Amino acid sequence: MTSAHLPGCQPALTTTVRADRVLLRRFTPDDGEGLHASLSRPEAVRFEPYGVQTRAQCDALAATRAHDPSFWAVCRGSDGALVGTLYLHHDDPHEWRGYTLGYVFHPDHWHQGYATEACRALLDVCFGLWGAHRVSAHCDPRNDASWRLLERLGLRREGHVRQAASFSTDDAGRPVWHDAYLYAVLDSEWDRPEG
Ligand SMILES: CC(C)(COP(=O)(O)OP(=O)(O)OC[C@H]1O[C@@H](n2cnc3c(N)ncnc32)[C@H](O)[C@@H]1OP(=O)(O)O)[C@@H](O)C(=O)NCCC(=O)NCCS
Repeated sequence: MTSAHLPGCQPALTTTVRADRVLLRRFTPDDGEGLHASLSRPEAVRFEPYGVQTRAQCDALAATRAHDPSFWAVCRGSDGALVGTLYLHHDDPHEWRGYTLGYVFHPDHWHQGYATEACRALLDVCFGLWGAHRVSAHCDPRNDASWRLLERLGLRREGHVRQAASFSTDDAGRPVWHDAYLYAVLDSEWDRPEG
């Protein structure tokens, strides 16, 4: 894993992170088409707070993400195809050095280890270069692929939060609540690469 960054140790100054098969880079306004390939698929957004996205919505997302240092475009090294998105947000208060992780990958690229590889490379940078103390993530307990990914990365299930969120309403307009697992890993626990 290598990373390119401007002088300093802030997340916004890191511009690329390279792993074996994938490259993480900043979004550009031209990524709307690549995002739409993923976010137009119901299985990709099933556990997201939003539904399937139109091309125009994806163009707007790409433009926004191009200026948001929390978002990373994950591209296949061999051909540059956009295979997924990572989200790694520096939580407030910043001095606690906590980060929140999220991810959405294109269904055509699931089950190949790309998400594991991309998350691991970014967390190496987060703990190593940015000096994170703790990285946490939430996921719906029904989202097996998501919590399996978190466990593969070495995050620990710290809690099962009841009725933590609602992304839809029932016919009577009442929120449909869902539970969430809370996962986290500390700096002292992160399995750093050799060297
Ligand atoms: C969550 C998500 C990113 C996980 O994707 P994934 O394809 O399971 O994860 P990876 O890319 O790391 O692939 C790992 C799987 O590929 C297998 N695999 C195959 N080749 C591999 C390789 N070379 N290296 C590592 N794993 C490999 C692993 O065994 C694993 O399968 P398993 O979970 O059945 O054991 C994906 O399901 C997704 O984008 N879901 C929609 C968005 C979403 O729900 N986000 C989370 C909201 S909380």
